[in-house]
Amino acid sequence: AEDGYDLWLRYPAMERGEARQYKAAAKRIVVPAAQSETLELAVRELERGLAGMLDAAPSVASDAKRGGNLWLVSGDAALPQGAGIDMAALGPEGYAIRSVDGGTVIAANSDIGVLYGAFHFLRLMQTRENVTGLDITEIPSVDVRIINHWDNLDRTVERGYSGASIWDWHKLPDYLDPRYEDYARALASIGINGVSLTNVNADAMALTPAYLEKAAALAGVFRPYGVKIYQTARFSAPMEIGGLDTADPLDPEVRAWWKAKADEIYELIPDFGGFLVKANSEGQPGPQDYGRNHADGANMLADALAPHGGIVMWRAFVYSEHNPEDRAKQAYAQFVPLDGKFRDNVLVQVKNGPIDFQPREPFHPMFGAMPKTPLMMEFQITKEYLGFATHLVYLGAYYEEVLSADTYAQGEGSTVAKIVDGSLQDIELTGVAGVGNAGSDRNWSGSHFDQANWYAFGRLAWDLDADSKDIAEDWARMTFANDDAFVRPVVAMMMESREAVVDYMTPLGLTHLMATGHHYGPGPWVCDLARPEWNPCYYHKADEEGIGFDRTASGSNAVAQYEAPLAEIYGDVETTPENLLLWFHHLPWDYEMKSGRTLWDELVMRYTEGVAEVHEMRETWEGLEGYIDQERYDQIVAFLKIQEKEAQWWRDASIAYFQSVSGRPLPDGVAPPP
Ligand code: GCU
Repeated sequence: AEDGYDLWLRYPAMERGEARQYKAAAKRIVVPAAQSETLELAVRELERGLAGMLDAAPSVASDAKRGGNLWLVSGDAALPQGAGIDMAALGPEGYAIRSVDGGTVIAANSDIGVLYGAFHFLRLMQTRENVTGLDITEIPSVDVRIINHWDNLDRTVERGYSGASIWDWHKLPDYLDPRYEDYARALASIGINGVSLTNVNADAMALTPAYLEKAAALAGVFRPYGVKIYQTARFSAPMEIGGLDTADPLDPEVRAWWKAKADEIYELIPDFGGFLVKANSEGQPGPQDYGRNHADGANMLADALAPHGGIVMWRAFVYSEHNPEDRAKQAYAQFVPLDGKFRDNVLVQVKNGPIDFQPREPFHPMFGAMPKTPLMMEFQITKEYLGFATHLVYLGAYYEEVLSADTYAQGEGSTVAKIVDGSLQDIELTGVAGVGNAGSDRNWSGSHFDQANWYAFGRLAWDLDADSKDIAEDWARMTFANDDAFVRPVVAMMMESREAVVDYMTPLGLTHLMATGHHYGPGPWVCDLARPEWNPCYYHKADEEGIGFDRTASGSNAVAQYEAPLAEIYGDVETTPENLLLWFHHLPWDYEMKSGRTLWDELVMRYTEGVAEVHEMRETWEGLEGYIDQERYDQIVAFLKIQEKEAQWWRDASIAYFQSVSGRPLPDGVAPPP
């Protein structure tokens, strides 16, 4: 069935004419005789892809002398004549794909690099690119490219919208669901090299021997695909499963407990990646419970892992209801003073924006502000605040917007990407994390188009400077069809989808207006939750006079956390980009926008526009029937109808609420909410 299980790794047969040029390029694979499992996977993938697309399986030989035209070269094995590849430059995971006399060579210093190269080579064919005259060098931007699973041990998934957790803990370690390997293969195909298995709201049970054995079994499946296993570490675990009466990071017994725990883990999983930690955030235990700081906590764990080469990813997603300070400022306030205090094997993991994965936020001001600390990017792939699995929202465009934002940390051109890849501030250890969206649904991600977000995350984590539109195009070609008449409108629709959701949920820099708890659907009227910073009205601050959160010097002064000249740009209503206007400013309803409209009218227009954009997306898609299988086509139609209905719901509910506050009439010609 065309149910989406194959993701972007479908290899449907090409038409005869198309296949001809590719057939010549991949007739005979030459690969060293003594193969690792990883090299074997590369060969198997090429066989599978070529057999599928070209209807002709290549032959495989280990003897270069007997001729071949697709050479797989790993480590210091000899390169074919004239390949001239600077192997040292490729690093541990990079690869080169080079056309040479009589064929193509895929070369890397490691077997995993060759596997990545094989997927790339196949992608060229899947997207109908040339495979002659190739001179491709690919080196990943960052070291750690990881999916964070927010999966609980009972197989529920926090903010998961695609079925149960793919980890079947109950049957592990004895039964290995074949899906684990399919998952690992998909991860490797986009260069992801790590998964943390469990929720950041962690269960100490995950660190008990029984669960470590289960994790070790998963590590065994993932290893040949170059994917390391990480675990979330509950800070109070020494008390919960260790029998200690404190988890104070400076307590010698606590430190010894973590050291012993690390030793125990590495005994079972010699290449264990390390810990991901959410501490002193949203009720999670942490070092502050003992009057210590984040560096004390992270360093204790780092010291336990260091002898084994493991790392700590310590999250900066912290804010407290006991802190009267603007929530957007709290992480920076806690972490920036600790710059330089973290061990070398600690990455501080920072969400892309200062609040929480909203449809649009400015980049997090910590990026650029901690020049002596490795800062890891955390994106959300699962669409918690973006319509779950039914709404079509292409996040590649969002990721690119954040990565290309200029922090001005060292003058113009100091993009977030350059902070994250370490190049700007000379940082060694680097990484990007994505909160995953893969579950046990047949199509993995809950919807076909959500596969694109997982795909784009991987491609952008590999290359922080990649173009999200190019990625969307590759994905659409690999996942659906190569017809330009299909690909062009689909890519346009994907790129447009990001602005559409911003418009119908939170236009003009508004944020966090979703209904309480589940975050699905509108709830801007909610004002009475016990935690003030969970109330939508905390964020929009709408009243009779106006709307928006004043984060300038006259308000919370969050703008001061940004480097000059950004602080001034965001601090001045005239220079603030309109798409962040109400994030930084509280303005009267009559404020005149660049369009000449009043702020009130513009807000209504944006909401209305958002619905129209989704309507267009649906019409575009409905014009594309017949290019792909009916099964996937139909589900996408149904989901776009849901999205259109719900965009209307968002628009009507939001306008009705804001109108009850502003008391203004709707602009001429605009339909009132029902
Ligand atoms: C959001 C989300 C939570 C999650 C948290 C986090 O607040 O709603 O479910 O635990 O982010 O990132 O830790």
